[in-house]
Amino acid sequence: MDRTIGVITAGGDTPGLNSALRALGKAATGVYGMHVIGFRDGFRGLMENRTMRLEGDALSGLLSVGGTILGTSRDKPHRMPMGGRHLDMTEVMMRNYENHHLDVLVCLGGGGTQKSAHRLMQSGLNVLTIPKTIDNDIMHTDVSFGFDTALGIATEAIDRLHSTAHSHHRIIVVETMGHNAGWLALGAGLAGGADVILIPEIPYDLHKVAQAVTARRQRGTNFSIVAVSEGALSKEEAEALAAGEAELAAATNKKERKLAKEKIRRLQIDQHDHVSKLSRQLEQLTQLESRVTILGHVQRGGAPSAVDRLLTTNLGTATARLAAEGQFGYMVAVKGAGTAAVPLENVAGHRRTVPDDHPWLESARNLNICLGD
Ligand code: F6P
Repeated sequence: MDRTIGVITAGGDTPGLNSALRALGKAATGVYGMHVIGFRDGFRGLMENRTMRLEGDALSGLLSVGGTILGTSRDKPHRMPMGGRHLDMTEVMMRNYENHHLDVLVCLGGGGTQKSAHRLMQSGLNVLTIPKTIDNDIMHTDVSFGFDTALGIATEAIDRLHSTAHSHHRIIVVETMGHNAGWLALGAGLAGGADVILIPEIPYDLHKVAQAVTARRQRGTNFSIVAVSEGALSKEEAEALAAGEAELAAATNKKERKLAKEKIRRLQIDQHDHVSKLSRQLEQLTQLESRVTILGHVQRGGAPSAVDRLLTTNLGTATARLAAEGQFGYMVAVKGAGTAAVPLENVAGHRRTVPDDHPWLESARNLNICLGD
């Protein structure tokens, strides 16, 4: 009997999802004679059995289209929001998987999706995954698709902020996405020539940042670009967070756990106002005017870059081949110019942050860019 692949796109959308679906669908149907069924809106669509055939005409015209034609959601199989509660809907999904006679479920997603796919695998489903996220924080892949496009958008934004910062003699604090990893801020900060780059991996000292801006001023440069990752923390915030996490780890009962979680949550809420606070503090410490730009979802929208189209074309076709060969339980990773199958258990639950000895950090230090430490 013909093999059938089920596909979902889950988590935040990312440029390149549609080109990945196209490559997977075309190779699976055209080369390996398989059927491909897409489920809408991530794991929720698998639970609610909302499908779309990913074959023939449905795969045309997708290469350059942003977003995902399948739709997406952050819903998790084992904690599905259902009428105000979170329920484990794994069994319903397993039944739908069986009813469609699927041979494998292919999940395109970031860290959360890799974890959910791994859980489904442990429950007995055949799964394959593809790493996608603009945050670039998935383990055991050279890069995740979507990162290159977001990097280009953020870099162009920083380029544009330069001329306005320069004209008005201002500090501009520009926030990139990236969750708890600094890849996007560091990459775009370097590529866009930021003067200060703050990332979650290096808690910063506010006074060192202010000194760097003041030193530029003393050299006759009255503007500065401060690129900040959304997860960046000052030294004090990082200490408070570490204390909250230690309390949570040491909690012995429900009440203690609740209190520790509440503490961590409060810090995370404060984090939302982080760049505005930083901008105000820099104004006070440097006597320069400061403005804030939050790049936000612009970084995820629109057409994928040529690099992301190439990556997703490789990843999609390689995934179709693994499915045809009956090789399951892997994330199909980017490796050099090609791909590699990495056991999913080595990926799920891990996050790839910027290591201390990364060449981008070394270059930043050699350019005298302030990293806040
Ligand atoms: O994980 C991708 C990402 O874009 C992060 O960089 C960001 O923190 C988050 O998603 C935003 O999520 P949402 O789209 O749910 O606001």
